[in-house]
Amino acid sequence: MRSCFFAAVVAAFGVSATDAAIAQDTVKIGIIMPMTGVLAPLGKQVTAAAKLYVAQHGTTVAGKKIELIIKDDSGVPDNARRLAQELVVNDQVSVIGAGVAPSALAVAPIVTQGKVATVVMIAGTSIVIGRSPYFVRTSFTLGQSSSIIGEWAAKNGSSKVVIIHSDYPAGPEASAVFTAAFTKGGGQIAETLKVPVSNPDFAPALERARDLKPDTLFVFVPASGQAGAFAKQFVERGFVKAGIKLIGPGDITDDDDLPAMSDAMLGVVTAGNYSADHQSAMNTKYVEDFKKAYNLRPNFISVGGWDGMHAIYEALEKTGGRTDGDLLIEAMKGMSWESPRGPISIDPQTREIVQNIYIRKVEKKNGELYNVEFATFEAVKDPGKASEQK
Ligand code: PHB
Repeated sequence: MRSCFFAAVVAAFGVSATDAAIAQDTVKIGIIMPMTGVLAPLGKQVTAAAKLYVAQHGTTVAGKKIELIIKDDSGVPDNARRLAQELVVNDQVSVIGAGVAPSALAVAPIVTQGKVATVVMIAGTSIVIGRSPYFVRTSFTLGQSSSIIGEWAAKNGSSKVVIIHSDYPAGPEASAVFTAAFTKGGGQIAETLKVPVSNPDFAPALERARDLKPDTLFVFVPASGQAGAFAKQFVERGFVKAGIKLIGPGDITDDDDLPAMSDAMLGVVTAGNYSADHQSAMNTKYVEDFKKAYNLRPNFISVGGWDGMHAIYEALEKTGGRTDGDLLIEAMKGMSWESPRGPISIDPQTREIVQNIYIRKVEKKNGELYNVEFATFEAVKDPGKASEQK
């Protein structure tokens, strides 16, 4: 069915000699992101970083001109699938940048069919990478941070936890991986509660959580927008006064939302792959340049776009500008480099990102809240693939 579709569309549009000449000199990169809708702040961060990378590293790589084509899927899988088809067939892009998990899953069959190298720049669910041999991930998996915070919490004064997570693909994964690590360390999960991803009302879950009298809440909501709303209700409903701790993956104290949170969040401990406060010369410059260009603090979603562009640029250098999907993916396998988040690499077996996970505490610096890193777990792989890696 699908090959008929491709053949029909290619036949209908044709490829002229001039198109072919332009195609040889230009490497088109199609980036499909949520630029509108509730997940729009994620698309804004990732495309801002991708554009900043291009602005700083130039638009010529291995003798080819780089062209970014940004498309808005609103985080809706059907839109993502349609846009991917258009980008591959009409625009003849050589590389795709995939966004949130539902969208990345939807584009997988298209890029597999078209053999188009695809960099997953936002999605955080483990299963995504396995859906196409043409996927490489530069974002993160929820398992990376949730396993680390689970281990840490069991050793650092949490014994009874209530989990609250969004009804979003990464939610159950964060919850399951945290539960495994925390209970292995001797902790107990009192209950796991779900909240809708659109128009979330945290009140019923928070009320139930209070009744269960935990010492700690583990919370996952998707970054950029929801964390602020959650934090407000957490404080208003007296959790801080009651001494109930809040922990989670970094999404809950995301750099996009953190500046608007109240000082009641001081001391909240999370595990994350990136903090705008990460101490390195490269990150200091990244944050400065990002703020200057966009009047915005970069968050952990942004670095998926920055490093995604780096992987594409380096792979093109390695292939001498050749854009064959198999060659580009081969070139990305095992690649390692310094990111604003610290050292990262692409696992050659799984095409999955390997990165440090930092334990951070919310502190005030120069009058603003930041996630200040105080412990590092080096080169963390996605625990969802640990068995495959042995
Ligand atoms: C995802 O699309 O998998 C995703 C988005 C936002 C997050 C985490 C995961 O904060």
